[in-house]
Order: sequence, then C-alpha cells, then structure tokens
Amino acid sequence: MRSHYCGDLSSANVGETVELCGWVHRRRDHGGVIFLDVRDRSGLVQVVYDPDTQDSFAAADKVRNEFVLRMVGKVRPRMEGKVNTDLATGEIEVLGSSLEILNASATPPFQLDEYSEAGEDVRLKYRYMDLRRPEMQQRLQMRSKVSSFVRNYLEQDGYLDVETPTLTAATPEGARDYLVPSRTQPGQFFALPQSPQVFKQLLMMSGLDKYYQIARCYRDEDLRADRQPEFTQIDIEASFLSSLDIMNMAERMLSELFQSILGVELPAFPVMTYGEAMRLYGSDKPDLRNPMQFVDIADLMEGVEFKVFNGPANDAESRVVALRAPGGSALSRKVIDGYTEFAGRYGAKGLAYIKVNDLAAGAEGLQSPILKFLPDDVVAAVLERAGAQTGDIVFFGADKTGVVNDALGALRNQLGADLGLIADGFAPLWVIDWPMFEKSRSGALTSVHHPFTRPTCTSEELLADPLAAKADAYDVVLNGHEVGGGSARIHEEPLQDAVFKALGLGEQAQVKFGFLLDALKFGCPPHGGIAIGLDRLIMLMAGTDAIRDVIAFPKTQTASCLLTEAPSAVSETQLSELHLRLRPKAP
Ligand code: AMO
Ligand code: AMP
Repeated sequence: MRSHYCGDLSSANVGETVELCGWVHRRRDHGGVIFLDVRDRSGLVQVVYDPDTQDSFAAADKVRNEFVLRMVGKVRPRMEGKVNTDLATGEIEVLGSSLEILNASATPPFQLDEYSEAGEDVRLKYRYMDLRRPEMQQRLQMRSKVSSFVRNYLEQDGYLDVETPTLTAATPEGARDYLVPSRTQPGQFFALPQSPQVFKQLLMMSGLDKYYQIARCYRDEDLRADRQPEFTQIDIEASFLSSLDIMNMAERMLSELFQSILGVELPAFPVMTYGEAMRLYGSDKPDLRNPMQFVDIADLMEGVEFKVFNGPANDAESRVVALRAPGGSALSRKVIDGYTEFAGRYGAKGLAYIKVNDLAAGAEGLQSPILKFLPDDVVAAVLERAGAQTGDIVFFGADKTGVVNDALGALRNQLGADLGLIADGFAPLWVIDWPMFEKSRSGALTSVHHPFTRPTCTSEELLADPLAAKADAYDVVLNGHEVGGGSARIHEEPLQDAVFKALGLGEQAQVKFGFLLDALKFGCPPHGGIAIGLDRLIMLMAGTDAIRDVIAFPKTQTASCLLTEAPSAVSETQLSELHLRLRPKAP
C-alpha cells in the first residue's frame, strides 16, 4: 500500500513517485488547488491536488480532517517562498495523481492542533485521537527507544530478563495494595505487586546473579503529576556487587542513554548525603538546577526577643532558616501574600521576609515587617550569612524541622520557577546515607525505603536506637524528581528479623515474610539493586511535566480510565463467584 512514511520524505526524493497512507491533518482550498497536510506516525507532508487530475481532485474536495487516505504522487520541490522551515518535510511537497479514501471520519471530538482547549478529560476519553498528535507520537516513539536501549545495555552487561508474578502477595513499598479476590480460595486475595522487590531478591537467592525486568508496578496512593497507580520500573538486581558498583552501573547506563537518545552529555552525578540535602534544600530530591539554598540561622536567633524565631531557635526539633531569592526585592505585597498562603499549605504559620532595597544603606535600605523585632547586628549577620545583595528578598522559616523543610522546600521550587532561576538542562545527583526508619503520623516506625534495605549497623545497634540507624541506600534524583532508588539488601536472616522487630511486625513477620526469612537461611549471596521509574525518566527526557503525557493509556487523578470507564461495577454473578458481597456505600 505504501512506499514511504510521510515524514521521511525530503529533497532527496524529488522526482520520485511515492505511495503514502495517512490521516488528513488539515485541508486547505486555495482557489482551485487543494492542499492536504497528511500525517502518519513519522510526521506530516503536504500533498497538492489540482483540477487537472479531475477524479482525485474531486475526491480531495470531499475529504475532511482525520479521513484515512492512500495517495500516489510525485515529490517536487516547493515553489520559492513556500518553503516551510517549521516542517521537517517543508522543502518539498507531493503533487497527487491519485487519491483513495480508505475510511471517512466523523467530526473529531477536538481539533488536534487545538488540543489544549479540549481539556484533559476529553483527551483521555478519546485517547486514540490525542495519541495521533505528532508530539504524543514522538513521546511514545522515544519511550520505545529508551526501553530498547535499556534492554540492550543490560543484556550486554550480563543481566537476564526474568518475569515475576503480578498476582502475588503484598509487597511492601509503602503504598496501599491493589487486591484481586480469589475465586478458588474463598475470602482470599492476591495483591498486585508494588514492585518486584521480593522476587528479584529470591532470584539472587536462586543464583541468577544478574536480573532485570521492565516491570509493571501497582500502587494505590494519592496521585500527583509524577505518579500513576500503575507504572513501569527498570528493575535491576545483582549479586556480589557493592552499592558503589550498582550506582556506577546505573549512572553509566543513564549517561549513555541520554547521549544516545538525546545527544545530551550528563554531568558526573554528584553524591550528597540525605542529611546534606535536607539541610541545604529541605528536600530529599533537590532540583540542583535551582541555585537557591537554605541557610541555617538558629544560632543567631537564640537570644532575640522575637518569639516566632527564638522559640524554634531553642528547640532541638525545630529549625530557623533563611532563603535568599536573588532579584526578589521587586515582589509586590500581594505576591508575597500569595507565597505566604502557599507556604501555609505546607504548615508554615507565617512567612517573614526582608527586602534588600539597598544593602549599602544599612537598616534604611531594608524593608520588612520583622525588622522592629530584631537587633540591627542580628539582621546584618543574617543578611551576610545568606549572601544577600541589593535587589534580593530573604524569606524566613521558623518551625518544627519537618514544617520548615516542607514549606521552604516547596517555596524554593516555586520561587525558582517564578523568578526564572532554573538553569536549562539536566541536573542529576545521588542521595545516599538515608535513615532506615521514620516515624509515621501515628507514631509507629516505618521504613524509609523498604524493610529489606540493609542497615549500616548491627542488629543490636538497630534495635537499641532504630531512628539513628542508617541505610545503605541510594536514590537517583533528576531535576527535582526521584527517578530511581535502590539499596544493598539484607542477606542474613537474623538481621532481617531484627528489622522486622524494629518495625513492630513481630509474629506478623513470619506470616507475611516467612518464605523470605526461610530463603535467607539457605545460602543467600550478598546482593543489591535499583529500580528506575521509566515513566518519570521519559517524562524528564521528553521535557514534559506530567507522566500522563508519556503513558499511552494513563489514568486520571482519581485513578480511573476515562476511555474504558474502568473501574466499573460487576455483575451479581461475578461477585458471588468471588464470594463477595458489597457493603452499602458509606453516607
Ligand atoms: P521505589 O519505591 O523508590 O523503589 O520505586 C522506584 C522508582 O519508581 C518510580 N515510582 C513511580 N513512578 C510513577 N508512579 C508511581 N506511583 C511511582 N512510584 C514509584 C520512582 C521511584 O524512584 N523495589 C524498590 C527499588 C529497589 O530497592 O531496588 C522500589 O520500588 O521513579
Ligand atoms: P506575627 O508576629 O505572627 O504577626 O509574625 C510576624 C512576621 O513573622 C510575619 O511576617 C509573619 O508572616 C512571620 N511569621 C510568623 N510565623 C512564622 C514562622 N513560623 N516562620 C516564619 N515566619 C513567620
């Protein structure tokens, strides 16, 4: 049917007769000549029909957007002045000699060129139309290339692709499980895997040595722009490699990937401890393209009268931080009020600031609601430590450490974007030296990564002071997103047992993970690995800010598929086969 893809034609084909198949992207009637922009997955080309070819001209007259055509024509250079430099095929056009309408199209639910006006709900309902857009086609093509690169890379490095079950038992990664009721075992449920974590470790215990899988994972958690309920990991595990070996391997793979797909040279990934990241950025996934850093000033505020600052300054669980925004002194009162409200969403009770209108003028050159509460020498010391210059604004956070980190960390991202401070390109880094555990809101201990992560201390030390225990874990962060995470694993049963104890699992550990504790007794090699979020990675490579844009059929923020209308009700028969009875909806 076809000799060429539309978008592949160029001046090199001038004079050739070509056969094309594709969709009508646009049709223009220019006084007796019909121009069709015809689209396939490779791009667009302009096909021209003039009245000399009567039949095909008449057919071209009938076509509308999104009709499917087969065309024959001759490639010719465009007339002088008609070259379209925005279009890859813009130097040429095809003079059509025949046109066959393979299928008509109803009026599209939205014009592909005007998709942004359609609203995302419409685009998701008619996803197959949305995916026709060249931008979406390119993203899915990039995704395919990335998967293929990763497979080749890992295969060449000796990694074996092994599939692991998706009907399985709960795999703890911190989210809620998606459950599947069993028909054959009344009242029992499978869980869809949150990751292949346990299985990849079992494969190391099986002697597979090096495993990878492009694996689908399922997590029922609050959705954000960079989260989906089902998503894909490049999942990797290896035996007898140190954490550093695995980090080096992953860094090389990512660097070569960016070089191969984007022609971009990534910088060597700096390595930062979790503590340092929290201290400087209030975040465990700092965007290093943003130059702003936190400056701790608690020591300067210990003795001041101002309660808002001296309270947290004298409390070990709080911090007082200055955040300098270069060039921010021009921000209006209204804009600052907006930032105060923004910080409030993260728990901040206020957002003190000092505008530096003229540094050389001393107190006279400053503007701030808090100057009256602070001695001049303290203000001068704060500004010096923050590196404030004329034209800057310095914001302050004083509260429990978690609140300051969340609020000023988010403010840093927002100000960076609003003030145009974010550098172009990619800023990767490793974050290491994680805590093993953190306290959840209920006060219980939970794993910061997962319970199979190796602590850097002994079982005794771990149980004596779990919150002080560090993990041999590493995250890879890119432009403020966590794109991957991994760790050395526990390969000794007593240590794994201690971690379960610290988590308060007790008896439950045997019930849930008895098989793993057993497996650890039969000669488990030291091992470790990493998982890279494929969707997030592609989102960043494609320069978009939502992973929905790089997933063919994503779910909405409320975890539903507008195209298939899943999830949906099931019949009484199905429910009864599954031994289920629905509860009445809570009022
Ligand atoms: P983790 O839970 O950090 O580690 O997941 C690894 C990476 O997967 C991506 N990711 C997601 N992407 C889209 N939507 C989601 N809901 C989502 N959740 C996670 C992130 C993240 O960095 N088994 C461990 C890995 C290991 O220890 O080897 C794990 O799953 O990019
Ligand atoms: P107040 O004394 O509460 O009116 O606060 C004086 C100034 O300090 C105002 O600019 C508040 O926005 C700011 N402020 C109040 N609480 C905090 C806080 N926890 N961190 C930073 N600034 C605050």
